Amino acid sequence: MPKGFIIRDLKWEDFHDIATNFFSYYEEVDADPDFGLTLMEKKPTWQEEALWFANTYKSVLDKDRIMLVAVADGKVVGACEVVRGGSQQGHIGALGIAIQKDYRSLGIGQALIKEILKRCKKRFEIVVLSVFANNLGAIHVYEKLGFKRYASLKNALKRNGRYFAEDKMYIDLKKS
Ligand SMILES: CC(C)(COP(=O)(O)OP(=O)(O)OC[C@H]1O[C@@H](n2cnc3c(N)ncnc32)[C@H](O)[C@@H]1OP(=O)(O)O)[C@@H](O)C(=O)NCCC(=O)NCCS
Repeated sequence: MPKGFIIRDLKWEDFHDIATNFFSYYEEVDADPDFGLTLMEKKPTWQEEALWFANTYKSVLDKDRIMLVAVADGKVVGACEVVRGGSQQGHIGALGIAIQKDYRSLGIGQALIKEILKRCKKRFEIVVLSVFANNLGAIHVYEKLGFKRYASLKNALKRNGRYFAEDKMYIDLKKS
């Protein structure tokens, strides 16, 4: 049990923790084929991860992405981002979040999302997200914080030969 956690903006020096956390989610998929986090098809190399991080950091500086991290026990244990949409969707941000296994169900996810939504109000009108329909814990959190389901597609995701339904959710920041 951590003594507590803090939420702060992403720092350049978070690269090692962020990458290590990201790699661990691939191990979770191996251990639990139902694990409800969308990942790239193939686990990236450290080099690919470094390039991703550099681009991510640049998009934060360019104000096209907000990325917050949760720190507990002296390390980054979770991250939440909202990324600006493309053409004609610059007013929409897409949310993604993942917390390290040992730090789930401690309130960190809800704290991260609440804080990022506060920041989003200055930059976006709508925040959307996609979630495995079997990810009941995540869906509970999203609904609790005001997200509503606007679409659901059976067999939308295919991982290692298995199909999963995907829900799409949104929150209208002008009304929340
Ligand atoms: C989903 C996730 C981000 C939530 O973060 P978290 O820190 O675990 O969430 P919190 O501790 O703030 O809240 C968990 C809530 O879900 C509830 N919950 C947990 N498992 C649940 C389940 N199977 N069904 C319903 N509710 C569940 C808890 O009771 C708690 O609700 P409460 O505050 O009303 O009691 C985190 O669990 C995670 O990273 N999971 C793996 C990756 C992932 O699924 N990312 C989201 C992809 S869209």
